[in-house]
Amino acid sequence: GLKKKEVHVLCLGLDNSGKTTIINKLKPSNAQTQDIVPTIGFSVEKFKTSSLSFTVFDMSGQGRYRNLWEHYYKDCQAIIFVIDSNDTLRMVVAKEELDTLMNHPDLKHRRIPILFFANKMDLRFAVSSVKVSQLLALENIKDKPWHICASDALKGEGLQEGVDWLQGTFH
Ligand code: GTP
Ligand code: MG
Repeated sequence: GLKKKEVHVLCLGLDNSGKTTIINKLKPSNAQTQDIVPTIGFSVEKFKTSSLSFTVFDMSGQGRYRNLWEHYYKDCQAIIFVIDSNDTLRMVVAKEELDTLMNHPDLKHRRIPILFFANKMDLRFAVSSVKVSQLLALENIKDKPWHICASDALKGEGLQEGVDWLQGTFH
């Protein structure tokens, strides 16, 4: 059949936000792993949608590894940014990291799409995706297409909506 267009995606966000769990759920069920551990450095994963083949750099969100992120900005064509909706204490840290990456010279003037997952919506104290977008001041992002979805990566809810949006930005 036809070869799918390849898209390089960077998956970013604080440690424990659910990045690896989300990427794992997007893979075909026979390729999913059962035990997910905190990412060391980064890991390269692949998943496909109806028209695209995504190569994802799933970065570690731990503080000591966040300085790795910027080395991958140049070659990425899309960003998935994951937020733990339940971790309101660290929402300011997530915002700082987001602001830093948005101002990075390798990303600043590029119209690359950013998909936000307001993850862990299943948890009792999770705030809504609208609240997350307010706390991160997403309305200030004027030069890039972006979209936010509430998700529950354990059940896989909300992931398809997000990936459909991302795929649509490449047509
Ligand atoms: P780092 O690799 O350290 O940056 O973390 P990460 O963002 O990849 O997080 P990871 O996918 O390892 O998930 C961290 C923990 O959150 C794991 O125990 C997951 O099972 C849990 N988790 C992920 N998504 C959800 C969710 O939607 N709801 C709930 N309740 N737990 C989740
Ligand atoms: Mg991880």
